Amino acid sequence: MSAAAWNAAPGAPLRGEVRVPGDKSVSHRAIMLAALADGTSRIDGFLEGEDARATEAIFRRLGVAIETPEPGARVVHGVGIDGLRAADGPLDCGNAGTGMRLLAGLLAGQAFDSTLIGDASLSKRPMRRVTEPLARMGARIATGEGGVPPLHVHGGTPLTGIEFDNGLASAQVKSCLLLAGLYADGETVVHEPRPTRDYTERMLAAFGWPIEFAPGIARLRGGHRLRATDVRVPADFSSAAFFLVAASIVPGSDLLLRRVGMNPRRTGLLHVLRLMGADIVEADAGEEGGEPVADLRVRHAPLHGIDVPEQHVPDMIDEFPVLFVAAACASGVTRVTGAHELRVKESDRIATMAAGLRALGVDLDEADDGATIRGRAGTLLPGGARIESHGDHRIAMAFAVAGQRSERALVIDDVANVATSFPGFDALARDVGFVLDTR
Ligand code: S3P
Repeated sequence: MSAAAWNAAPGAPLRGEVRVPGDKSVSHRAIMLAALADGTSRIDGFLEGEDARATEAIFRRLGVAIETPEPGARVVHGVGIDGLRAADGPLDCGNAGTGMRLLAGLLAGQAFDSTLIGDASLSKRPMRRVTEPLARMGARIATGEGGVPPLHVHGGTPLTGIEFDNGLASAQVKSCLLLAGLYADGETVVHEPRPTRDYTERMLAAFGWPIEFAPGIARLRGGHRLRATDVRVPADFSSAAFFLVAASIVPGSDLLLRRVGMNPRRTGLLHVLRLMGADIVEADAGEEGGEPVADLRVRHAPLHGIDVPEQHVPDMIDEFPVLFVAAACASGVTRVTGAHELRVKESDRIATMAAGLRALGVDLDEADDGATIRGRAGTLLPGGARIESHGDHRIAMAFAVAGQRSERALVIDDVANVATSFPGFDALARDVGFVLDTR
């Protein structure tokens, strides 16, 4: 587990090569589908983070044998689509909204009851976005007061496919309904207001389940089976994002990020940083396990503020904390709108970023669905503050980046949850020149 707090301060330019760990979204889905498949699947590049491991531990409790031949690899002995068995108590999703929401759909289709619980942050996150459409499919799920965890999922209820127009651009909601749809009578169709990451659809197809999908729509029918297949998990673009911004804002930096996952539904930050003037070059574009990957070379460049186009919001939904840091260091004003979902992530990311940046001396206005950030035009942030990350991994890492451009060192509290998505972030960051010490 990471230390409880970090000291971050400016140092030398950032230089060298970085290989970030496996993608969190893909790791969750790989365990789930491999567990439900007929036969044995091997997963390589599996994220050894607490979120993905919580999902893995849940499937062990549901009767699935999973081996770890080496770190980052799993061999999953699938039990077949109807082969899970009841666990002997509540299933703990830890900090993982993805784990809980996808499992809600998958467990609604089982013959047995399950209870899903999570940590303090997850226990505050909204679950009606999945329980309401699942109820329309026939599922019976009780939530805590106000629609938050724990979720008591009653099994043994027949499900029927629905056509669902999601008001939210949410891959978790879409994926939850598709997983319930595996067990439903008839067709399940999900429409989205803007396209979101399509890993569930792509992976279902790779495991042999007939599915039709295109940006903004996915459609499948229940009653098939999944065939074991090997999965290669790409490196997580969201983890690479911290290094893309850090090298952009620290003068003299030149970093090479190796084999980063480049799924277009994840790379919105790349477009936005380039609009701001960033110098990021893609090389050796290829494919790993059916996903596009590339090396990214990022060199320092002066950034300028922009109005972030709303069409990119779902494609960079996890990258706003670090984009706010880029905006604080840019010249001119950056406006973020249409990002209301940031209010219900691992923390209220608009409020936590606004409070932290203000403490560092940045001038900004908070809005319901974003913020207006007046950049400091390449001058150092005053810094010298104590930042409360509210146990949110991406807030902690975003401020580690901000520290590299702060006049006075900052202290970032409550950073243990960085291990949920990016175990070893601080050591990797130090390797390329970050000044980031554990306290
Ligand atoms: C995820 C979808 C997104 C994202 C989360 C992972 C997924 O959440 O923020 O980190 O793996 O499907 P929403 O579906 O709530 O937007």
